[in-house]
Amino acid sequence: MIKVAPSMLSADFSILREEIKSIELAGADFLHIDVMDGHFVPNLTFGAPIVKAIRPHTKLPFDVHLMVTNPSDYVEEYAKIGVEYFTFHQETVPHMHRLIQYIKSSGMKAGVSLNPSTPVSTLEDVAAELDMILIMSVNPGFGGQTFIPRAIEKVKQAKALLDAAGNTTAVIEVDGGINDKTAVPIKAAGATVLVAGSAVFGAPDRAAMIEAIRNN
Ligand code: DX5
Ligand code: ZN
Repeated sequence: MIKVAPSMLSADFSILREEIKSIELAGADFLHIDVMDGHFVPNLTFGAPIVKAIRPHTKLPFDVHLMVTNPSDYVEEYAKIGVEYFTFHQETVPHMHRLIQYIKSSGMKAGVSLNPSTPVSTLEDVAAELDMILIMSVNPGFGGQTFIPRAIEKVKQAKALLDAAGNTTAVIEVDGGINDKTAVPIKAAGATVLVAGSAVFGAPDRAAMIEAIRNN
């Protein structure tokens, strides 16, 4: 029921293929891929060429989190690579409905992410169309930050919003500062996919950490 999506941002990039294999064997459900452009967030990571290069080396579904100012420019590229979830930030897009339709018509699932300061109510008019709401529990840009507890209340609001829209299939994902302890209240609030970067990649036993995040 609960899915765990380790964030590639905390992997050792010099041995990326081995790192991805390691979390696949450790029982991950998705690979969370943080694409940052140095404009929307003050950090620059990797883009489609890297995502394309790793696609043949794992069976894990790709959960791509775009922290970029112009997400619509990348829809076709990521669709061609074979990405499961294409998630953009609400704060970057004036025409959310149009972009959601575009993502879905390209064969991917559409997610929208909210910064810690962006209210859940901004998604009211697109709630019926979404495949994922991604609640940020840190300010996006870096791994290893501290969980912001306010995210717990926002997960409850997101769940209420999806219920009210009659959307029974969308998942609620939470991203930032998740470990075996912060996962507990966030799951109780209704989150079903948990991203964890530093907690999983930094754990001496990655399988045990994934299991603890899922089952604690
Ligand atoms: C933050 C990224 C997260 C990050 C999570 O901007 O979107 O996915 O990698 O890392 P941890 O789990 O270490 O907070
Ligand atoms: Zn992320």
